[in-house]
Amino acid sequence: MKADLIVGIQWGDEGKGKIVDLLAQKYDIVCRYQGGHNAGHTIVVEGKKIALHLIPSGILNPDAVNIIGNGVVVSPEALLKEMKQFDSLEGRLYVSDKAHMILKYHELIDKAKEKLRGKNAIGTTGRGIGPAYSDKISRVGHRLGELKDVDTLLEKIVSYFDSNRAIFDVLEIKLPDIDELKNELCEYKEKLAPYLADTTEYIWEAIENNKRILLEGAQGTMLDIDHGTYPYVTSSNTIAAGACTGLGLSPRDIAKVTGIAKAYCTRVGNGPFPTEDFTDEGQKLRDQGHEYGTTTGRPRRCGWFDAVAARYACRLNGCDELSIMKLDVLDGFDKIKICVAYEYKGEKIDYVPFDLENVTPVYEEFEGWKSVEGIRKFEELPESAKRYIKVIEDLTKTKVGMVSTSPDREDTIIM
Ligand code: GDP
Ligand code: IMO
Ligand code: MG
Repeated sequence: MKADLIVGIQWGDEGKGKIVDLLAQKYDIVCRYQGGHNAGHTIVVEGKKIALHLIPSGILNPDAVNIIGNGVVVSPEALLKEMKQFDSLEGRLYVSDKAHMILKYHELIDKAKEKLRGKNAIGTTGRGIGPAYSDKISRVGHRLGELKDVDTLLEKIVSYFDSNRAIFDVLEIKLPDIDELKNELCEYKEKLAPYLADTTEYIWEAIENNKRILLEGAQGTMLDIDHGTYPYVTSSNTIAAGACTGLGLSPRDIAKVTGIAKAYCTRVGNGPFPTEDFTDEGQKLRDQGHEYGTTTGRPRRCGWFDAVAARYACRLNGCDELSIMKLDVLDGFDKIKICVAYEYKGEKIDYVPFDLENVTPVYEEFEGWKSVEGIRKFEELPESAKRYIKVIEDLTKTKVGMVSTSPDREDTIIM
């Protein structure tokens, strides 16, 4: 059976974790295909909160197998730490032996380069994502499968240190003690051995055997390395296409694509964000939406739904449907704004230009509502909320299939 896909269509943190967890109850396999522990996917079940960074959000379905694909950059340290919060995951979690490793020095390089960039910093999560993907593309990275032979891996890492010594010196990064590094790698080898696998073969077989497979994107479309607000992006292809390279699937293996969007918009880190609201209204969105990062705790920048960027994202991902999240966060606003076009070089445009930092949003205002929190049936939504969803459908040219009205798994309208 073909796989279904969940993808963020804004700047990340749209609520992908909640929807993957909800849908995962009906899937046999859930797969991450890109990014790393820069992601923070929060799941709330009966008031209990779990934050996942690397482990797919299908982990709360005891019958689902979870896969971390070759396109993910994996910090063994972060993965082992995350695995500790669960009982044994053997037979329930597989990690591609082709996935590249994030080691401590990647994190140090990430942080040192951000410091050097000063006011031009990207605002990365400091998890070593960029440096690990750079090494992969430069063909000097190290894959998890190499842990099988620690001595050879260690030799390669030492040779990497030698040829990059000048960079480490400039960035004032102290190289690790080689004996300590060897011990660390041996620990990773021992603890991760039961989980490393040829995940591509595993998924191909699952497709043959009609297993139900869900693919979980991390970050969001506007953070895509090719199609996002470069250079203020992450270092992977966050869009649906990334699932093909990041797992070894062909485009024909993918069935339904669901885009996840907040009913408003947020962004963490730097870079263009046309609908950002710097007034009390923006602060109200942050307060009501608890908009503080799951991974870094940073306050998220908040603003209004950007229908131009959302339509662009729906086209890039081929979204069949949208899930509109956090509708309840708009409770109590008299008027709600949606960006319906941009003003750009004296003209009104309806596309995302090369230099998004130079647009001014054109807004339309809609009636607000009192409360939608916890509503589980579309018919029970206030008329103005129903109209708001309809406007999003019209502007994005995409059907809304789900609406979320609280962090809890159950508080979801399925249309
Ligand atoms: P992800 O990275 O896309 O998985 O999203 P995050 O987990 O980083 O951020 C979404 C946050 O919003 C989490 O804290 C969720 O628990 C929360 N959330 C998800 N859906 C809703 C909703 O409908 N209403 C409210 N109030 N919170 C939600
Ligand atoms: P989830 O999966 C929101 C942002 C960072 C920074 C930029 C580059 O939870 O939606 P990186 O560390 O990836 O090199 O940082 O990307 N970023 C995210 N923003 N949600 C995420 O993940 C993000 N992962 C990275 O804030 O602006
Ligand atoms: Mg997140």
